[in-house]
Amino acid sequence: MPFPQERPRRLRRTEALRGLVRETTLAPDDLILPLFAAPGQKVRRPVGSMPGVFQLSVDEVVAEAQAAYDAGVRSVILFGIPTRKDATGTSAWDDAEPVQQAVRALKERVPGLVVMTDVCMCEYTDHGHCGVLKPAKVGAPGSELVVDNDATLELLVKEAVSHARAGADVVAPSDMMDGRIGALRAGLDQAGFDDVPIMSYAAKYAGAFYGPFRDAAESAPVAGAGIPKDRKGYQMDPANAREALREVALDVAEGADMLMVKPAVPYLDVVRQIRDRYDLPLAAYHVSGEYAMIKAAARNGWIDGERVLLETLLCCRRAGADLILTYGAVEAARLLTGRRP
Ligand code: PBG
Repeated sequence: MPFPQERPRRLRRTEALRGLVRETTLAPDDLILPLFAAPGQKVRRPVGSMPGVFQLSVDEVVAEAQAAYDAGVRSVILFGIPTRKDATGTSAWDDAEPVQQAVRALKERVPGLVVMTDVCMCEYTDHGHCGVLKPAKVGAPGSELVVDNDATLELLVKEAVSHARAGADVVAPSDMMDGRIGALRAGLDQAGFDDVPIMSYAAKYAGAFYGPFRDAAESAPVAGAGIPKDRKGYQMDPANAREALREVALDVAEGADMLMVKPAVPYLDVVRQIRDRYDLPLAAYHVSGEYAMIKAAARNGWIDGERVLLETLLCCRRAGADLILTYGAVEAARLLTGRRP
């Protein structure tokens, strides 16, 4: 029997050798922690479908963000549970609502932290859609409703400007309206926030992985006459990858500073294709359903949850993501650095 000509195993013999030839790294400052800002004080309400995730009042957002910062996570993204919801989501641009308050508190209390905000209407509208609704057919009121793209753009601009006014370091629109990056860029510039970058949820898919998030943010579409039952009319079809490149091309042309693919793991082919074609920083959103699956399997003793979390995030990096949004950011950071809470 001849000897093998090549022996890749030679470089796998010890951890030091493996470390020497390792192609991809994962570090705490690659991670962005999502936080849910809620009204009240000393509120820390667990989200049932997401172990370790809470709805937090502003004081608790600060405590959670400080702990994340101490663990090495340098960035958070805020979602809001508002004090009120209505048809046009007016609480989204109310400077007194939890997200705006949380941004101000974080900029004061954890000054080194990058504070991002999610810009979308679904948390603020009473029907739970990512924009305002209008009759699907012009001149036929009372029939089926659809999300009104251009009317929504104006509201998203107000929301983003309100976040910037509070001190947000980055705004991240997740609504999937056409033309939103251009509208936000113009609106921010006009309001004097030309230095606030936009991280675009460029390729956001209408899949089934967002369920636990909608529990956390109380943002699921509400059942009602004419109200679309899902987000397929504006988020992307999971079958499409070329269309993601088109979405990215539009966002880049409109002035996006960073790009994102969401969800992460089932869409890593999309991450790779964008990485190969564009030079902007690229994020992958390891979404609520992906996180919940790891936690559920780990609780059952079916997988080693810590190792699966780190492997998952590393694979996002290998596919080409510079940054990863994950509910496991603090856990992962502590595992990576050996730091304990
Ligand atoms: C808001 C938004 C959603 C998520 C991020 N921003 C929910 C949705 O589109 O329904 C989902 C994040 C997650 O599942 O972790 N539009």
